[in-house]
Amino acid sequence: MPSVLSDTQIESYHRDGFLVLPDFASANACAGLRQRAVAIVDAFQPSDRRSVFTTNEQDRISNGEFLDSATGMWCFFEEEAFGADGQLRQDKSLSINKIGHAMHDLDPVFESFSYTSELAGVAADIGLTDALALQSMYIFKQPHIGGEVGCHQDATFLYTEPMTVTGFWFAIEDATLENGCLWAAPGGHRTTLRKIFKRAGSDNEGGTMFDELDPAPLPSPSDLVPLQVSAGTMVILHGLLPHWSDVNRSAKSRHAFSLHCISAGADYPASNWLQRSPELPLRRLDRSDRVSA
Ligand code: FE2
Repeated sequence: MPSVLSDTQIESYHRDGFLVLPDFASANACAGLRQRAVAIVDAFQPSDRRSVFTTNEQDRISNGEFLDSATGMWCFFEEEAFGADGQLRQDKSLSINKIGHAMHDLDPVFESFSYTSELAGVAADIGLTDALALQSMYIFKQPHIGGEVGCHQDATFLYTEPMTVTGFWFAIEDATLENGCLWAAPGGHRTTLRKIFKRAGSDNEGGTMFDELDPAPLPSPSDLVPLQVSAGTMVILHGLLPHWSDVNRSAKSRHAFSLHCISAGADYPASNWLQRSPELPLRRLDRSDRVSA
């Protein structure tokens, strides 16, 4: 696997728990992903089922559609998308919070964006030499109604033993203070995992719950630093790093794509919300598991 990061960048990642890599994705690649995401939303028929994405645990409990999205491409609405009359307050294209969670294995455009030798090289450079591509999200952070994502650790939602989950977050559009950029706590990954989000039952109807592991509070937003980045930037996020993003009250969207990977060698419990079906196995980021013809 060719090395991509410098020693200084690798040190910086291990010290801070995150690393900002400007110009990682080309303008063409970002435009292609954006276009594809917009087309998926366009084809989405919201009349049959409505799922709202929120980090509020009450709203996630018993959300069978959320659990089903582990093997699909589901469009989740913004919390503020609907008015009191139950109708969309703005056009559907401006109402979707995100698409999740298996586009990288179901859609050719997302697949070619995700499975690259450069990304596999970055993962290997920070110690993830056997990365499996676990979860993908296209996040719209819509103008005016783009919801806050409360301070959290990704390992809460994608738990392995040992902890290996790593987020690769791509700015598809410029991310600023105005449109809800990421915020992170430098060095905050050198800490404990506060809680685990898990399945309450054995099937998708059983709902979900949190297990509290450590009552220590996560940092408040005032302890975090903003990561204002331009389109094409990739931010690597350690699975224990507390991070947050604010609401977007501006007139500009803040599209981003995130891909979460885990080590193939780590234990992946059956209680994790995200469970793939045998027909859609996880694949190595470097595609070394490809069966040659
Ligand atoms: Fe996150």
